[in-house]
Amino acid sequence: MNKKTFTLGIFGGGQLGKFLVQSAKKLNIRTFVFTDSFDSPAIYHSDDFIISNYKNKKKLDFFIKNIDLATFEFENIPFQTLDYVEKKITVSPKPSIIRILQDRLKEKNFLNSIGIKTTEFYYLKKVNKRKINNSFFPAFVKTTRFGYDGKGQIFFKDKKNFLKYSFKNNEYIIEKLVNFKKEISMVISRNKSKTVAFDAFENLHKHQILEKSKIPANISRKLNNEAREISKKIINKLNYIGTMCVEFFVTKENKLLVNEIAPRVHNSGHLTLNAYNVSQFENHIRAVCNLKLKKPKRIYKATMYNILGFDIEKYRSKNITKKEFFYDYGKKEIKDKRKMGHITKII
Ligand SMILES: Nc1ncnc2c1ncn2[C@@H]1O[C@H](COP(=O)(O)OP(=O)(O)O)[C@@H](O)[C@H]1O
Ligand SMILES: [Mg+2]
Repeated sequence: MNKKTFTLGIFGGGQLGKFLVQSAKKLNIRTFVFTDSFDSPAIYHSDDFIISNYKNKKKLDFFIKNIDLATFEFENIPFQTLDYVEKKITVSPKPSIIRILQDRLKEKNFLNSIGIKTTEFYYLKKVNKRKINNSFFPAFVKTTRFGYDGKGQIFFKDKKNFLKYSFKNNEYIIEKLVNFKKEISMVISRNKSKTVAFDAFENLHKHQILEKSKIPANISRKLNNEAREISKKIINKLNYIGTMCVEFFVTKENKLLVNEIAPRVHNSGHLTLNAYNVSQFENHIRAVCNLKLKKPKRIYKATMYNILGFDIEKYRSKNITKKEFFYDYGKKEIKDKRKMGHITKII
């Protein structure tokens, strides 16, 4: 491989990586994907790729030698890997930030410390389980790390069931169920000098997996602006470079609680590919490469539907209208509940 032009290294090869790579191409930026899976949609679109365990130093050295900057499409890259790479090359967003946002406990403590409200929670290691009030239930127990799409979560409708359960280790938080009115998310990007954000997306989850997202969210301008201000505060306090997503619960009283932060581009932002003047992916590339960010302007109203598991087969033979955009991620293996594609309908 001959490194002639600026090359962005991306850890992770899923659909988020694929869209990042395609956006980079549009900006004439070369991409090099490092993934640990053969079934990685991004590798068919990047200029180069490596398939290897994330801790393989030889492979990492080759990767580092051939890129100018590294970023990632999912946050569960081992710390050792990110630390090793950061010693030699810039990683954006910074691994020290990922350490906070990769861990539900650290994330919630950080948010509360800057005056941002989250759900009520306890760290199971530090609490006497019997002392948790009955009224705290129903509740979710969540692993502090590595959870996604509802994985690593157990729902307890009452204290009795909770006390009966034996947990494998203590790296869990318990979180009170929020009887929310709706869920929204805010995708925000920051480079060294500026932040820009999309308006809120309204999200519907089924079995803790995102089912659909729509814009505009059916919320007041005031609430939208509040979500934006909270997201801005978070991204600025963290000195974060790149795109992130803040997930919120809107309570029955129209108050915002932050559910969690994804330190990367996000599933709810997929509709920006078709319904906005700029996508979340392009603004991520712009942010990490310190190019001028594009201020998002909505062109259409839109709804995005995730396509999970074997449903993809129906869509592959379906007629797609001019107002629909169908994305087949091209994953080799179809698995139940696996994100296989999505469709965005514009109005
Ligand atoms: N405390 C809670 N109250 C109500 N719903 C919740 C709560 N925690 C999680 N959920 C539901 O489960 C979904 C996934 O949980 P989340 O904490 O965002 O984890 P993941 O990392 O899997 O996305 C949320 O978007 C929401 O619909
Ligand atoms: Mg979530």
